[in-house]
Amino acid sequence: MSDIYSEIILDHYKKPHNAGHIKHDTNHAEEDNPLCGDNIKIYIKVSDKKIIEDISFEGEGCAISQASASILTDFLKGKPVAQAKKITTEQMYDMLKIEISPARSKCALLALRTVKSALS
Ligand code: FES
Repeated sequence: MSDIYSEIILDHYKKPHNAGHIKHDTNHAEEDNPLCGDNIKIYIKVSDKKIIEDISFEGEGCAISQASASILTDFLKGKPVAQAKKITTEQMYDMLKIEISPARSKCALLALRTVKSALS
């Protein structure tokens, strides 16, 4: 294990949860990190009651960006859209359970930015 990545990040990076393209998505978006060109696509199925019934992602990038997509999609499944829209930078960092340096903030927030863009 390196100093930079915790075991949880590496686990999600190696075996991402919710990877792929769900069927019947109602919302989707793609965003990239302009600093490196890495990208994430998010697919979301929103129910009539505005609940995130299903969510998945595809993407290419560093361990932090891909692990954050895996962790965030796990968290959002079954949650109200209104709650997803209100997730803060601090909450995203808390989910990752590692110290995020300013240089890696764009990696850590890429998935969240993509989710918000898909739901906007
Ligand atoms: Fe590209 Fe992290 S280095 S998203």
